[in-house]
Amino acid sequence: MSAIIIADSLRKKYGDFTAVDGISFAIAEGECFGFLGPNGAGKTSTVRMIHCVSPVTSGTLTVQGLPAHVDNRVVKKQTGVIPQEINLDNDLTVWENLRVFAHFFDIPGSAARRRIDELLKFVELEKKRASKIAELSTGMKRRLLIARALLNQPKLIIADEPTTGLDPQARHLIWQRLRQLKSQGATLILTTQYMEEAQQLCDRIVIMHQGRILKAGAPARLIADEIGREVTEIRAAADQDERLLAVLAPLARGHERVGDSLYFYCDDGRPLMKKVLELDLPDTVHRPASLEDVFLKLTGRSLIE
Ligand SMILES: Nc1ncnc2c1ncn2[C@@H]1O[C@H](COP(=O)(O)OP(=O)(O)OP(=O)(O)O)[C@@H](O)[C@H]1O
Ligand SMILES: [Mg+2]
Repeated sequence: MSAIIIADSLRKKYGDFTAVDGISFAIAEGECFGFLGPNGAGKTSTVRMIHCVSPVTSGTLTVQGLPAHVDNRVVKKQTGVIPQEINLDNDLTVWENLRVFAHFFDIPGSAARRRIDELLKFVELEKKRASKIAELSTGMKRRLLIARALLNQPKLIIADEPTTGLDPQARHLIWQRLRQLKSQGATLILTTQYMEEAQQLCDRIVIMHQGRILKAGAPARLIADEIGREVTEIRAAADQDERLLAVLAPLARGHERVGDSLYFYCDDGRPLMKKVLELDLPDTVHRPASLEDVFLKLTGRSLIE
């Protein structure tokens, strides 16, 4: 694996508060690497260090062979960033927002116009080129952020929660575009709270919680190793645990009590479901295992609180 980003015991502190607590990872050229975790896990703090806009407190971080440092203009120039905050210029039109950025990147006039036309097409915003930002939906604004991030034809793209707050259709369009960029050879770093997004896009992920990496690996591998293939959720009061576990636990790989539910993890859930029917537990959900289950198992909490 030729790694283009290597972090070793990377730490970020804001005053006395540790937001990123000594994490290590390596990102290969051409892969989609995901940081999955709930609010406050340290995802944005991590990617801001990779993008060289936030100083590293301790540990080492190299990006394309160079130490990440706030003065590292080479990395900044070669990286496209889709920020979590929608930081478009509200006084300008869609086209003007892109034009201003093209100027930052020293793209000359005629090349900039060509590139902007291409990108507006890519994110399906041609018809909105003369619109003011206030006239765009959130999904359109997020697509414009993608177009803006691609102006300098970056080989490394960082997307920080690119689909937060979008409806399924808008989300799928963004997923398609990100996959397209990856197939064109870009390396993609994605942060997300959505397990489905991580499963759809990422070759490998790390699951972050409170500044630490809890688990790392390919999404399917993590699910298979930690959970198995199927999950059965039974809504039942905790005073039923002893009775239910005596019968059901031997039929599962593992189980968990979280809030109002008992979770059972199985590779083949049929024997367990047969018992559930016999026990007449109508408030039961049987479904495929997901990354959310991995997180739940590791922390006893849900990804989105
Ligand atoms: N500039 C800052 N000053 C002080 N604390 C900060 C700063 N930026 C982030 N933090 C804190 O660091 C922790 C990690 O924040 P970060 O934004 O990296 O999390 P995140 O995983 O991106 O969360 P979210 O999913 O909400 O975007 C949080 O507790 C946050 O309050
Ligand atoms: Mg964030």
